[in-house]
Amino acid sequence: MTDSIRFLMCPPNHYDVDYVINPWMEGNIHKSSRARAVEQWQKLHHVLKEHTIVDLVEPQVGWPDMVFTANAGLVLGNNVVLSRFLHKERQGEEPHFKKWFEDRGYTVHELPKELPFEGAGDALLDREGRWLWAGYGFRSELDSHPYIAKWLDIEVVSLRLMDERFYHLDTCFCPLTGGYLLYYPPAFDSYSNRLIEMRVSPEKRIAIEEADAVNFACNAVNINQVVVMNKISEGLKEGLAAVGFEVVETPLTEFLKAGGAAKCLTLRVTEPVSSEVHANRPVESRIIRMEGHLLDSGLISKAIDLIVEAGGSFQILKFDLGVQRQSPSSAEVKVSAPSHKLMEEIMSQLIDLGALTPPQELCDTKLEPITADGVAPDDFYVTTIYPTEVRINCQWVKVQNQRMDAAIAVTQTESGLVVRCKLVRDLKVGEQAIVGVEGIRTVHKKESREQRNKEEFSFMGAGVSSERRVELVVEQIAWEMRKIRDQGGKVVVTAGPVVIHTGGSKHLARLIREGYVQGLLGGNAIAVHDIEQSLMGTSLGVDMQRGVPVQGGHRHHLKVINLIRRCGSIAKAVEQGLLTQGVMYECVRNHVPFALAGSIRDDGPLPDTQMDLIKAQAEYAQLLEGSDMILMLSTMLHSIGVGNMTPAGVKMVCVDINPAVVTKLSDRGSIESVGVVTDVGLFLSLLVQQLDKLTSPYQNSM
Ligand code: ARG
Repeated sequence: MTDSIRFLMCPPNHYDVDYVINPWMEGNIHKSSRARAVEQWQKLHHVLKEHTIVDLVEPQVGWPDMVFTANAGLVLGNNVVLSRFLHKERQGEEPHFKKWFEDRGYTVHELPKELPFEGAGDALLDREGRWLWAGYGFRSELDSHPYIAKWLDIEVVSLRLMDERFYHLDTCFCPLTGGYLLYYPPAFDSYSNRLIEMRVSPEKRIAIEEADAVNFACNAVNINQVVVMNKISEGLKEGLAAVGFEVVETPLTEFLKAGGAAKCLTLRVTEPVSSEVHANRPVESRIIRMEGHLLDSGLISKAIDLIVEAGGSFQILKFDLGVQRQSPSSAEVKVSAPSHKLMEEIMSQLIDLGALTPPQELCDTKLEPITADGVAPDDFYVTTIYPTEVRINCQWVKVQNQRMDAAIAVTQTESGLVVRCKLVRDLKVGEQAIVGVEGIRTVHKKESREQRNKEEFSFMGAGVSSERRVELVVEQIAWEMRKIRDQGGKVVVTAGPVVIHTGGSKHLARLIREGYVQGLLGGNAIAVHDIEQSLMGTSLGVDMQRGVPVQGGHRHHLKVINLIRRCGSIAKAVEQGLLTQGVMYECVRNHVPFALAGSIRDDGPLPDTQMDLIKAQAEYAQLLEGSDMILMLSTMLHSIGVGNMTPAGVKMVCVDINPAVVTKLSDRGSIESVGVVTDVGLFLSLLVQQLDKLTSPYQNSM
């Protein structure tokens, strides 16, 4: 008998499954046998009494789960952190446990209301006393961990639970004497698994299989070398024996019906304090502000989802709901994360959503020098499409050349500091880059209810659109294009060869001729097929009139490439009167600049195709500068390239027959992007018709 170890248990006089608050209870309401429960409980009690002292707390009518004393609180030395149950079904147990602790002279710490923590069910001391493992994700809130660390003066390692069946840490995790650990890794997220692996060496980790896990093998009571549990496989028993543990099985099937077993039925109330260990600051918290149509646009739920999905937790500190339909709401949210790294990850995603950190908190965003050309500091902030501002000299400064997937470079020039987006490869020694996430904000247009409805109505978020819907979208696009042309704006088209194969070339050529297009971006193929069609009437050897392959047609495109190569360029072929129609012809004739980016599969290429991809990206970026609208016509590759270079605020229309491409491209989270799932040739013909309708009849020449 080990005198110094005491446990607390609660006889099952009033035990039953009366409600469902975990998956084990489902289908088990009133299905447990009281007689069998009493018998099983007494056996466990008996086993424990052989090794330790067991104290009892008086069971209470109406609180059937009180038998699970692990959830009374968490004891360390003379301190107890009392549980705050998540579910009201168990909250009534709190005063009874509190009284028990107070009567025995413990110092009882109580968490703020609304901050759930379920005691030793979710917090397990390393048996060497080095730190406390604390679970969160289902019952206990991450934000309770700093309180525990402070009150118990111990380092807390936060572990995130992922599998509903293992809703309390003690259902899937059991620290053992000598630094061993019995646990079920799939119950945790990968970050937590890494934490575990960093603290417990491989030879001390005993990972169990699902079959043992669902028998609650981890829900074991460990007293020195003895491990008491419900049931265990022979293999695991041998594994434990091999490292010196004696397993005692005692059936607890009646309690499994409520989602508990040996460990849940006990609370160790003697836990020696180790003088060498102290609290850490495990959990980081920040306060963010969000403004806008938080409810109708779903912004607040997006923010909350992303915090939780990333492994953090949140508290809404303030929520001012806009009263009128048009009035924006604002919210203040406390975000917590178990580590600095995760905090930064969550914050950068929140910044993408438009969250603000109170500016008074920080004067300057963190900068680090570039130490090698083309290489950013480790922790560099990765940009998005949204206009971004950073804190420099205690002021918000707008970042120039906004694009996504870049670094923010700060360069000292003669005329002052320049803050702009730069691709990593373009960073230069002597510049600095912004690191971390503090003091960065993105500016979003307010999304109104009307805009959202419009978007849902006209742009096919989900799946294929009906013809009539396509017509409606085309009407809007035509209207925009007409407006942009009349205001001297800029529309850039990025097009794939499908435009030619689907018979769209004459329509696109006409848009160029009539001044609706100010730049064309594509690859080698669109130009080759367009010129093939103009010169030979085929596209990749298929007769465009009859839709059938012509004899020897597969060589046509090579002949075309050869011809243009002989001329020296597409423009020269036009000059020499060889090329007299088509998309490329109209570009040359109407001085509409184009950029053709090469790829590994290009035949030829045409002399105009830029095979140096870095140069091609630069040509694209230059042509895109200042654009008001981008039409993306059936080319995923070039459209993604273009999308990455384009800041929010530029209207993007993506047309593709493949809904997946459209979804991928129009899902930039920005309200200006539109997806149209349809045949691109058909789209262009509708677009031209619609533009005709908007133009007086005598202006139409075709
Ligand atoms: N029915 C109880 C609940 O869901 C079971 C508690 C089990 N206790 C434990 N420490 N895992 O709260």
